[in-house]
Amino acid sequence: MQLIKAKNLYHSFDYPLFEDVNFELNSSESIAIVGKSGSGKSTLLNILSSFLVPIKGEVTLFNHRLDKLNELDIDKMRRFDLGMIFQFHHLFKGMKAIENIEIATILSNSTIDMTLFDRLEIASLINQKTSELSGGQQQRVSIARVLSKKPKIIFADEPTGNLDKETANLVMNVLKDYVKKENAGLIVVTHDKDVAKMCDKIFELENKSLKEVTSLER
Ligand SMILES: Nc1ncnc2c1ncn2[C@@H]1O[C@H](COP(=O)(O)OP(=O)(O)O)[C@@H](O)[C@H]1O
Ligand SMILES: [Mg+2]
Repeated sequence: MQLIKAKNLYHSFDYPLFEDVNFELNSSESIAIVGKSGSGKSTLLNILSSFLVPIKGEVTLFNHRLDKLNELDIDKMRRFDLGMIFQFHHLFKGMKAIENIEIATILSNSTIDMTLFDRLEIASLINQKTSELSGGQQQRVSIARVLSKKPKIIFADEPTGNLDKETANLVMNVLKDYVKKENAGLIVVTHDKDVAKMCDKIFELENKSLKEVTSLER
């Protein structure tokens, strides 16, 4: 099933970032987007995830063109179907790790998947206050929170930017397993070649265009 189809995207802020970008994501697929800092990767991810309207072009999520949907429908889609992961998590600091995860499941009418805690190696710390956890532990809690809402597409912007190699590898494996098991899709913006190589496909944003690359050895 096609999860995302984007056609002829163009966007600029002070200068043109990219033009004529075409992109598709199918279920069970993971795609990495790489490119230099400032090339527009986060902007593209924001457009594909409905949070930014492109200056030109169209984005279709789950066979719904975003420019034809009203705000309420887009809100529902964000709440139930889209999962966002950032380099810096957005957990509530005063709450326990488990409470942060519970909130997400309540908002999306889902239930907590306890097996995630073992796989992300956070089972022993979910009753601690978020502020007492290390950065890497907090990031894994935030990933458990996102996956607990059972999103159909996960958008991750430098999800492993603050993690050591081993934890980055663990996180990527959990995300990939989720995608295969749930027939979901994953887009990862990253500058880490090892992370990119773990995805099914790699696209590079360069010279204002997005192209699939088969090798990162340059
Ligand atoms: N909301 C915004 N308003 C103005 N300029 C922006 C905005 N978001 C990004 N930019 C600019 O667009 C360019 C690309 O940013 P970004 O998409 O974050 O690139 P990347 O994620 O590849 O580093 C940068 O020059 C950035 O300053
Ligand atoms: Mg960025």
